Amino acid sequence: MAKALQTAKRPAVLWLQLQECTGCVETVIRTAEPTIGDLVLDVISLDYSHTLMAAAGSAAEAAFQKSMHDNAGKYVLIVTGSVPLKEDGIYLTVGGRTGRELLREAADGAAAVIALGACAHWGNVQAANPNPTGAVGVSEIVTNKPVVNIAGCPPIADVVTATIVHFLTFNALPEMDGDGRPLFAYGKRIHDQCPRRAHFDAGQYVEVFDDEAARKGWCLYKVGCKGPATYSPCPIIEWNTRTSWPIGAGHPCLGCTERGFWDTMTPFYGRLPADVVGLGVERYADTIGAALAAGAVAGVAAHAVATGVHQTRERRRLAVVEAQKDQQGGEGGSHGQD
Ligand code: SF4
Ligand code: SF4
Ligand code: F3S
Repeated sequence: MAKALQTAKRPAVLWLQLQECTGCVETVIRTAEPTIGDLVLDVISLDYSHTLMAAAGSAAEAAFQKSMHDNAGKYVLIVTGSVPLKEDGIYLTVGGRTGRELLREAADGAAAVIALGACAHWGNVQAANPNPTGAVGVSEIVTNKPVVNIAGCPPIADVVTATIVHFLTFNALPEMDGDGRPLFAYGKRIHDQCPRRAHFDAGQYVEVFDDEAARKGWCLYKVGCKGPATYSPCPIIEWNTRTSWPIGAGHPCLGCTERGFWDTMTPFYGRLPADVVGLGVERYADTIGAALAAGAVAGVAAHAVATGVHQTRERRRLAVVEAQKDQQGGEGGSHGQD
């Protein structure tokens, strides 16, 4: 991989910022492996980014057009932010052009499209009910080529850079799940990687944020943790060069890597609703707690069954992905189906 990166010509990267908060830029400049300095100076040529480039106004837009022209069919397009469609997209314009218009033009000439963050993935808070601007994600607009979704609000920077490096090394996007998320990062639930999992299994829960259980680092399920329904590598990679992550800091996971989480995972400090996709018999902590009170073995066994079912499903899903890979002769870059 190192050799491939050393010998590759630095590819042009254009970064389009649409309806967003700049938090995704903030996360990427905190990447560790490679650092943002290594990435921009040695690995890619970042030709356009509102926030990071020195040019502004018409000079910036000219750089955008020039890079698209000079690198047609070869550049990587990164998009942050959602695309407003109501009122002909008037809620977001850059240089007098709507986000939808800019995105279509930039995506047409791109070799790969990376939708970075929940806004670009599916619309995020802007798309939450009642979605006043008609916000949608990138894949609603770009339908003529694969779009990889780096999920999260914001995503972990190292997942972004790993996806870029994967594309540069193999000239293909990584294998994805049914929602376009790279499997190397989003293939496992937070709940199955969480250091507080032993407390969940033992029926040891935080009841309120300042109780003794919170100080002991017990499970946050009863104060709203959505880890059982959320696929993300947060417990493994963590944030800001492995400083910490939400659950590590004592806060429940909000499910920010899941499509529609503002509507499906709220109230954030309430327990998971019963109809959240991906949640099986383990959804009722009280049931497990009661079972433990009656006999610890029964509760643990009930949860072990749930975990076993999930792991079996996960193995089957990965087996399907592997089979698809074999059918495609080992070439990556397709949308898998869950
Ligand atoms: Fe901001 Fe979150 Fe959207 Fe990123 S995904 S631009 S952090 S609101
Ligand atoms: Fe960790 Fe949340 Fe699962 Fe508890 S419910 S084990 S805090 S992911
Ligand atoms: Fe998001 Fe949950 Fe990770 S809220 S940052 S997926 S711990």
